[in-house]
Amino acid sequence: MNAEARRWVRVASRSDLAEGDVLGVEAGGRQIAVYDCDGTLYATDNICTHAQARLCDGWLDGEAIECPLHAARFDVRTGKVLALPATADLKIYPVRIVEGGIEVEIP
Ligand code: FES
Repeated sequence: MNAEARRWVRVASRSDLAEGDVLGVEAGGRQIAVYDCDGTLYATDNICTHAQARLCDGWLDGEAIECPLHAARFDVRTGKVLALPATADLKIYPVRIVEGGIEVEIP
């Protein structure tokens, strides 16, 4: 087997992330954004694929995050680009809640 090693990393307390909000965290040297969409959590890379803006400084609208710099939009469930000027999708990460903490699975 040549499966990529992955591990779950606790990145925040569940209470740090309010419903409809986005939180920037670090795990395994990566900058990751964690989103609460009506109580369901998602995680993507935090850096916009267009330039160097942090998506956690943007606006979460339903399941879409809008970049604060040039207003590209991404679907936080899939990482897919929804609006230019970004053309590359975001990487997404599995996320779960364990004992009151938010965990993200990273390579
Ligand atoms: S840096 Fe995000 S749209 Fe330009």
